[in-house]
Amino acid sequence: MADGNSETKSSNQMWGGRFASGPDAIMEEINASIGFDKKLYGQDIRGSIAHATMLAHQGIISAEDKDKIVHGLNTILSEIESGQFEFSRRLEDIHMNIEARLATLIGPAAGRLHTARSRNDQVALDFRLWVKEELQRTEKALTGLIAAFLDRAEEHAETVMPGFTHLQTAQPVTFGHHCMAYVEMIGRDRSRVRHAIEHMDESPIGAAALAGTGFPIDRHMTASALGFAGPTRNSIDTVSDRDFALEFLSIAAIAATHLSRLAEEIVIWSTPQFGFIRLSDAFSTGSSIMPQKKNPDAAELVRAKTGRINGSLIALLTVMKGLPLAYSKDMQEDKEQVFDAAESLELAVAAMTGMVRDMAIRADRMKAAAGSGYSTATDLADWLVREAGLPFRDAHHVTGRAVALAEQKTCDLADLSLEDLQSIHPQITAKVFDVLTVEASVASRTSFGGTAPNEVRKQIAWWRARN
Ligand code: ARG
Repeated sequence: MADGNSETKSSNQMWGGRFASGPDAIMEEINASIGFDKKLYGQDIRGSIAHATMLAHQGIISAEDKDKIVHGLNTILSEIESGQFEFSRRLEDIHMNIEARLATLIGPAAGRLHTARSRNDQVALDFRLWVKEELQRTEKALTGLIAAFLDRAEEHAETVMPGFTHLQTAQPVTFGHHCMAYVEMIGRDRSRVRHAIEHMDESPIGAAALAGTGFPIDRHMTASALGFAGPTRNSIDTVSDRDFALEFLSIAAIAATHLSRLAEEIVIWSTPQFGFIRLSDAFSTGSSIMPQKKNPDAAELVRAKTGRINGSLIALLTVMKGLPLAYSKDMQEDKEQVFDAAESLELAVAAMTGMVRDMAIRADRMKAAAGSGYSTATDLADWLVREAGLPFRDAHHVTGRAVALAEQKTCDLADLSLEDLQSIHPQITAKVFDVLTVEASVASRTSFGGTAPNEVRKQIAWWRARN
């Protein structure tokens, strides 16, 4: 109902019971980031120590004030780490929580810390440091997953399984070769991580609000104290840039997509119908009603985490897409997306590493499946090209007739008699049976990167030297 006085009514009437103390409370709730950016306390304190040390070195603050500041910041660090620190939402974010506590601890000297900087370069620094460290953790985790695949690939360099296209049996491959496909994928993820670390290796601190500062600061000094290759070169870009977060999320989304494909294969392979693997009890669950079931929950959740991670990437891209230079408060929404994606990816990689290491490979089932579905039909066609001199297209046609005959007799290609085969093409000899087994098929695929066990072993050695 229209009410000319509604603007002057108390918050309770306007917005209901959730906001007890009026518009200020709503502002505080939408504005505060302390609930999630407290994660950055370590980076914030390190950044402030480097900044204060540089300010003193440059004669911008006194050595005594610097000592008080550094001592106070270290006290705050231990207060936070021992759980004694009281975070206040009224103080908005981690930067102001720490600075306010510093003032209580050391008095007026605390007020000198914020000389020649702004929360804009401060948050850019803290967050960049955090993302860089997370990328370093990601690199290690991916290396662990690659190692797990290399071990399984080595163990199963000769284990034959059906290779699929369209999820239809295509040609026999080895399980080792299939594992090495994931090594390539995860290896690319890891090299993207390494590039991103290099890419973001520039220190934002000293860009100040957006224009730089008139104080005689030394940004090279703070950059090297904080482990960066150097300072960023444009102060406007520095406080408005979140590419490092977007890069992290893009890398995470691609890596999660790889893990999701693997998760899907694990789900398929562990069905009784496929029966290619048996998941360890550690990574599966039973059903509360169906005693026979063993569910691949961990794989399913890895597959689902991909949705969250991809969502985070889209969320931050959307936050950034219309922002004018330089800083806008919208950018505060960057952190939860990155934190959530990082946690999800860490968990997904750890779960996958465990599953890959633990799963039992049912080589007999793989081999039986590898031989069904006329998987060596291409080998027959290739033989006709090689031994009988047929053009490949004709060989393809002859092989198609052989497959039709085998289908009619409900047997495999290798079970057709020589007479059967010769009735289709007179030049076929008994030697053809050498290429119709799955072992012969994989052994023959010796092209670089092919599935022949020796080729796979070469690729394993190549990766071992680089992992
Ligand atoms: N909490 C803020 C963020 O995460 C810190 C920067 C605030 N800067 C400002 N000018 N209000 O983005």
